Amino acid sequence: MEQEKIVLTGDRPTGSLHIGHLSGALRRRVAMQNSGEYKTFVMIADAQALIDNADNPAKVRKNVLEVALDNLAVGVDPQKSTLFVQSQVSELTELYFYYMNLVTLSRAERNPTVKSELAEKKEKFGVSIPLGFLTYPISQTADITAFNATHVPVGEDQLPVIEQAQEIVQKFNAIYGPTLVMPQGIVEINEKARRLLGTDGGKKMGKSLGNVINLSDDSDTIAKKIKDMFTDPNHLRVSDPGETENNPVFQYISVFSKPEHFQAFLPEYAGYEELAEHYRRGGLGDVKVKRFLNEVMQDVLRPIREKRIELAKDPATVWEILRSGTIKAREQAASTLKRVKQAMQLDYFT
Ligand code: TRP
Repeated sequence: MEQEKIVLTGDRPTGSLHIGHLSGALRRRVAMQNSGEYKTFVMIADAQALIDNADNPAKVRKNVLEVALDNLAVGVDPQKSTLFVQSQVSELTELYFYYMNLVTLSRAERNPTVKSELAEKKEKFGVSIPLGFLTYPISQTADITAFNATHVPVGEDQLPVIEQAQEIVQKFNAIYGPTLVMPQGIVEINEKARRLLGTDGGKKMGKSLGNVINLSDDSDTIAKKIKDMFTDPNHLRVSDPGETENNPVFQYISVFSKPEHFQAFLPEYAGYEELAEHYRRGGLGDVKVKRFLNEVMQDVLRPIREKRIELAKDPATVWEILRSGTIKAREQAASTLKRVKQAMQLDYFT
């Protein structure tokens, strides 16, 4: 039987989404949705967000709507994709419970994604690490397998989580018979777009790091953030040669600019390579490059922001999209859970 291609992807609602999400996750999910090749599920991972926000439910609740608006504004289409809220699909929690028995404590502690995220949160958690943090890859396996997902678009840093999901699927099927679909992780093809640097030049763009451009930022905020952006600190005079590696201004131009942007705003350069080459040689000033980047980002973000503002005027409609998506998601998850319980001989009363 030809395996249907199914995409599951999710965002944790801990803040509204930014251009780092756009460059990797969001643009790709919309492209996959529009290709017509995949059945697409987009999950708002509120239950997962609570793992490290248990003391702040209001933040998670508020951001469910924000993240839904971001997804709809970039082109997730409820006619084509199922957009739903994780916590309202209780079947996912039940699957998570059974999968926990298939993972050893040492395996949970060894997951490289978990280890590095724990290191990042060392200050926040101190010695009080929520147990759920060590088991979130198991919860994520429940999300993935509930929808029979074959393709899971993730950031590079999440690949070890997918690997753990594959192990759980393998182990489940070996013990209980072929039941779960084996997922594969999909990372962004364009290497530069995989991880956007912060506006401050930091290795990671993150809301808590204060170095993001949000999809919801207004035009003046975008302009100000770009004006203040980090570039090559050794590029002091226009005539100095400059570095384009680890330079977020050049990274953003390479990720977001299209040939039309050069034609419209910087026609003296054929494209990114020519511009970067001039900067590296010397003789090209930061102000000019930033001015171009501003034109590009304004052009990319304007339609998203305008659509977002339209949608935000009518939150009831957005909640209705989430509600009906969640009903559909529940049906799918319930059917998987039923097969799982049958396989585990937990089907007494049927
Ligand atoms: N962990 C993902 C993130 O940090 C969110 C997520 C939860 C997810 N469940 C998922 C992603 C299942 C892909 C598949 O954004």
